[in-house]
Amino acid sequence: MKTYIGIDLGTSSVKLLLLTETGEIKKTVSESYRVSYPQSGWSEQDPSLWVEGALSGMEKLLRGEDASAVRGLSVAGQMHGLVLLDENGEVLRPAILWNDGRSALETDWLNEEIGRERLTALTGNVAFSGFTLPKLLWVRRHEPELYARIATVLLPKDYLVFRLTGVLGCEPSDACGTLLYDVRNACWSKEMLERCGIPQAWMPPLRRSDEIVGCMKEEYAKPLGMNAPFVVAGAGDNAAAALGTGALRQGICNLSLGTSGTVLIPCEAYRTDSKNALHTFVHADGGCMLLGCILSAASCGQWWIEDVLKTDNYAAEQTTLNNGGRGEVMFLPYLMGERSPHNDPNARGVFLGMDRATEREDMTRAVYEGVTYALRDCLEVARSQGIALERVRLCGGGAVSPAWQQMTADILNLKVEIPAQLQGPSLGAAMLAATADGAFASLAKAADRMSLVERELEPDHEAAERHERKYRRFQQIYQALKPLF
Ligand code: XUL
Repeated sequence: MKTYIGIDLGTSSVKLLLLTETGEIKKTVSESYRVSYPQSGWSEQDPSLWVEGALSGMEKLLRGEDASAVRGLSVAGQMHGLVLLDENGEVLRPAILWNDGRSALETDWLNEEIGRERLTALTGNVAFSGFTLPKLLWVRRHEPELYARIATVLLPKDYLVFRLTGVLGCEPSDACGTLLYDVRNACWSKEMLERCGIPQAWMPPLRRSDEIVGCMKEEYAKPLGMNAPFVVAGAGDNAAAALGTGALRQGICNLSLGTSGTVLIPCEAYRTDSKNALHTFVHADGGCMLLGCILSAASCGQWWIEDVLKTDNYAAEQTTLNNGGRGEVMFLPYLMGERSPHNDPNARGVFLGMDRATEREDMTRAVYEGVTYALRDCLEVARSQGIALERVRLCGGGAVSPAWQQMTADILNLKVEIPAQLQGPSLGAAMLAATADGAFASLAKAADRMSLVERELEPDHEAAERHERKYRRFQQIYQALKPLF
């Protein structure tokens, strides 16, 4: 039986999934790696970790399996990361990641000098610190010698594809997060490149997400027992996740609780957000979508539980998530600054309202509530744009927690659907490879076959009312503290 590998190149780990041509998920594995935080609000990663992680992940995935049956593979990647190569294809510096906030000045320059309106006309989006272009401009100002050696600008998953195949490329669902891509006209924006003085030759060729780019080099394929499987262009992790959960049509939105938290809203036609809080991005099938992204979601839980409480027993800490303590403490989850809706790289985390009776569970509950209120902020922007939201599908590492699932339904006051398969991006990636090979007639057909909803959760009426009041207070805290960040 033919098989396909889907790779989710995440921030804290790479996750891999083996899919058969009939749509059975045979196996999943993951390999963790490190992020470095050289300064507050900065985040970097050595691209060689992605290659090593993906190769050792494939070795684990294929142990005991028929590796020669693997026809193709595809990568879904953390978006926006800046990977710079010299003319020999060598990496020039550690990648600057999607949640890095160092480029506040460059972001302001783009939003004020080119202007939000022109930026939106040219790219569909305004500038945010985590986007690729502001970081490239930061490198030009702070590392001019290194900047002079740039020959190619790549996104993380495209670097992995380049290393596996030797072929340079990109595709719309990731290109849209660079601020150098014209979402409406599906091409690199000539005017943006010219106005920012960036050579078009640095940008890789564009392909469709499910287009075959090349074959895996023999030096990698052979030791793994594979017969030079093909590699498709792949997708940004959010687009791939929503493909995996079947959120392809207007009405179903995908909510990912990973290192970042994202709300992905498929749209019938190209549209932008007049509030400049949500991004106008491209789906894995080439359609339009709006995306709201908070920079710290499950990562807030990880920080609180592992780094502060010094335990890894998530289940024990989360048992009182919906009823622990008195529910008075508030938390702002902006550990890495915030993207949607505030566009504020200087924001930071805040606890508010503790007293002498405050206990561990009050704080834990506040952390998860704060993250979920921040996601609601994104949904409120969508609602204010007249977008009707009926239900959300969950995915990502945080989505496995039953307590957080219910909290999400209560805080968003929406029906929450739990897919049978919560590993969105790696499944979406495998579906792209399988579709490229004809195992599915189209991506929509692949989604119909693969995205089964296992459970539905309705909001608890009383809890939803309680959260409504608390959410109003949450909204005021950032506005009050903004001048202090
Ligand atoms: C989306 C974003 C994040 C990363 C995380 O705009 O920045 O969701 O893709 O992997």
